[in-house]
Order: sequence, then C-alpha cells, then structure tokens
Amino acid sequence: MIEFSGVYKYYDSLAVLQNISLKIEKGELVFITGPSGAGKTTILRLIFGSEKPDEGEIKVGDFVLSKIKQSKIPYLRRFVTFVFQDFKLRQDLTVYDNVALPLLISGQKERDIKQKVYDTLKNVNLRHKVDYIVRTLSGGEQQRVAIARAIITNPRVILADEPTGNLDPDTANDVMNLFKNVNALGCTVIIATHNPEIFRNTPYRVLYLKEGKIYQ
Ligand SMILES: Nc1ncnc2c1ncn2[C@@H]1O[C@H](COP(=O)(O)OP(=O)(O)O)[C@@H](O)[C@H]1O
Ligand SMILES: [Mg+2]
Repeated sequence: MIEFSGVYKYYDSLAVLQNISLKIEKGELVFITGPSGAGKTTILRLIFGSEKPDEGEIKVGDFVLSKIKQSKIPYLRRFVTFVFQDFKLRQDLTVYDNVALPLLISGQKERDIKQKVYDTLKNVNLRHKVDYIVRTLSGGEQQRVAIARAIITNPRVILADEPTGNLDPDTANDVMNLFKNVNALGCTVIIATHNPEIFRNTPYRVLYLKEGKIYQ
C-alpha cells in the first residue's frame, strides 16, 4: 500500500530524512514516533504528496509520488487524507459546513451530502453539534470535526499529525478510539506522535524515527 525505498529529504542542504525504507500494508494502523524535529511530519507530508523526496522512491497505492504530475494530485487526495496538527478548520463556519466541504468540492448532490454529513458526525459523536460554529467548540470537539471531514470521502489512507497533542488524556483516548474504529473498517491509518502514552500497550506497529533515520 505504502512503500518508501531509499528516501532522502533535504531542507537547506540538511538531510532531515536519510535513506528511509519502509512498507505499510493495506489496513494497518501504524504509529510514527520520535523526538521533536525527527522528521515525523515530513514523512506524512511525503505520503500526502505535499512534499517530494529528493532521492529515492515513494509508492502510495498505484501512485508513484517521486514522479507524480501536479494534475494527478487531486486523485491522490481522494485516496489519502490528512488530519492536520492545527486542524485547518474554517473557524467561522458551522460543523456541518466544514464536514460537507470535501463533498461539495467533488460536486455531490445536496441530499446525499446531508445524509453523509449526519452519518459521519454520528460516528464521531458530534451529531448534536452540527449547527455550532467551529470556533465555539473545545479542542477535542474540533479534533473530531477534523476527523469527520477526513473520513467523509472514504479515503483508503488517513494521516494524522499529533492528533492528541493538545488534548487531556480522556479526550485523547476517545480520539484514538475513533482512529481504531476507522482502521477496523479497513482504512490504513498512520499516526505521528511524540507522546509514547498514545501507543503504550497497543498491538499496533511503531516506527521510531531519530535524526531522520528509522528504527523498527
Ligand atoms: N519547510 C521546511 N523548511 C526548512 N526546514 C524544515 C521544513 N520542514 C521541516 N523542517 C526541518 O526538518 C526537521 C524535521 O521536521 P519535522 O518533520 O517537522 O519533524 P517532527 O514532525 O518529527 O517534529 C526539523 O529540523 C525541521 O526544522
Ligand atoms: Mg511534527
């Protein structure tokens, strides 16, 4: 599903990823961890196609990202979605409008959109907040809106960057359970986190990154 072969990424002639090779199978849930600055976010950005490798090859499904044309990026984005560390929600719009956005962009009918938005909000336990303005929600609720927006298009891969970074332990646990549920339905989930509490005693694979190198 996802394969890195000999990937290097440089910023200002500094190698932030060095000779990364890894494979993530379809339907896996994988944690990427390591200290701040280790390159976790960079790995997610490479999988999302918002950064390109300087050397090596990256395959995501049938996409070869080292060679992907800009015109193919919208197709990749149907396949892979990103839950950003700062959510990137439209703060002045309602929960409904935020979650409906990816479906509006893909030109679906209003009635279908409405049904999917309500179903997805039910999955993340936010059905009761559908008409709230995002700005008025707590951090944990905003995180769940961001997850709803990411899963509403049924992507095959979800990337989440420090999804529990700003949450108290109980809320973090709820959010982690959402990712596990999404994964149980067959979606490949990759979670970058510097917090070992999140994957303590989990059966899922953990990739350790340090100074741009991977330790499994
Ligand atoms: N756009 C960028 N320009 C220059 N340096 C960057 C950029 N993005 C990340 N870096 C550097 O790359 C290294 C890895 O960053 P990042 O992938 O964000 O690490 P992590 O998510 O593990 O904290 C850091 O040293 C960071 O400063
Ligand atoms: Mg990061």
